[in-house]
Amino acid sequence: MSSLQKKVTNTVAAPTNTGGGTKFGLAWSRLYDAITWLFFLPLGGDNRLRREFIDFAAPGEGEHVLDVCCGTGTLALLIAEKVGASGRVTGVDLSPEMLSRARRKLGRDLPVLFRTGDCEKLPFTEAAFDKITISFGLHEMAAPVRQNALREIYRVLKPDHSLFIFDFHLARAVLPRLVVTASMRLFEDEDAYRMLAGDTLAREIEEAGFTLGPKRLLKAGVLQMLRADKLTLVP
Ligand SMILES: C[S@@+](CC[C@H](N)C(=O)[O-])C[C@H]1O[C@@H](n2cnc3c(N)ncnc32)[C@H](O)[C@@H]1O
Repeated sequence: MSSLQKKVTNTVAAPTNTGGGTKFGLAWSRLYDAITWLFFLPLGGDNRLRREFIDFAAPGEGEHVLDVCCGTGTLALLIAEKVGASGRVTGVDLSPEMLSRARRKLGRDLPVLFRTGDCEKLPFTEAAFDKITISFGLHEMAAPVRQNALREIYRVLKPDHSLFIFDFHLARAVLPRLVVTASMRLFEDEDAYRMLAGDTLAREIEEAGFTLGPKRLLKAGVLQMLRADKLTLVP
C-alpha cells in the first residue's frame, strides 16, 4: 500500500462573522442549561449523552483538549475529569455571557480555562491541541463560518490527532427525520438543515483537510458523533 504525503491547503478565508456575536447572549446564557436538560431528557438526558460523547472521544490522562463553542462549559468540565491534573481543557466561545456562566460552574482545582474567541480565528498557535471537541456548535453557524471554523480547528490540532463532533443528524426513519427537520426549521435556519442533509458536513470536513473517521448514530439516528483525523500520511 502506498502512502502519499497529504497536501494540506488549509487557507482560512477572511472571517465572515462581522457581527461580533451569536444569539447566545444574556437571556440564552441564563436559560441554556435548563433548556438543554429538558430538550435532551427524552433522548436519555444531557449528562448521559455528553458522557457517551466523552467515551467516543476518549480524552486521556495528560492530554490538552480544546472544546470549541464550549457554551456554558458543561462538556469541558466533564472532559476535565478525564484528563486529570496533568492535562488541560480549554473552552473557547464567542459569547462572553455563556462563558461567564461556564466560569461560575468551574471548581477551583479543575484544569480548565475558558477563553473568549471566534472559531473563525481561533486565538491559539498551530498544532496546540491533542484533541478537539465541538458539540452542537457546527449547526449554529452559517456555511461560510463553519467552513472557516473547520479549517481553523485543523490548524490548531496536532498532526495525527483527531477532532470529535457531536451534533444532530437527519435520521433515515420517517418519524425521527421529521423531528429533526422540524427542530431545524423551527429553531435554527436553513444552513443548519443543509448541513445535516446529504453529505454536506462530511464534504466540508474533508475540504478542511481532515480524513473522516468512524461515525456513530444514536437515538434512532437523530444524533451523530463523528471523528475527523488530521493525518500527515494518507493511506
Ligand atoms: C448550541 S450552543 C452549544 C454549547 C455547548 N457546546 C453545548 O454542547 O451545550 C452553541 C455555542 O456556539 C457558540 N458559537 C456560535 N458561533 C461561534 C463562533 N463563531 N465562535 C465561537 N463560538 C461560537 C455560541 O456562542 C454558543 O455558545
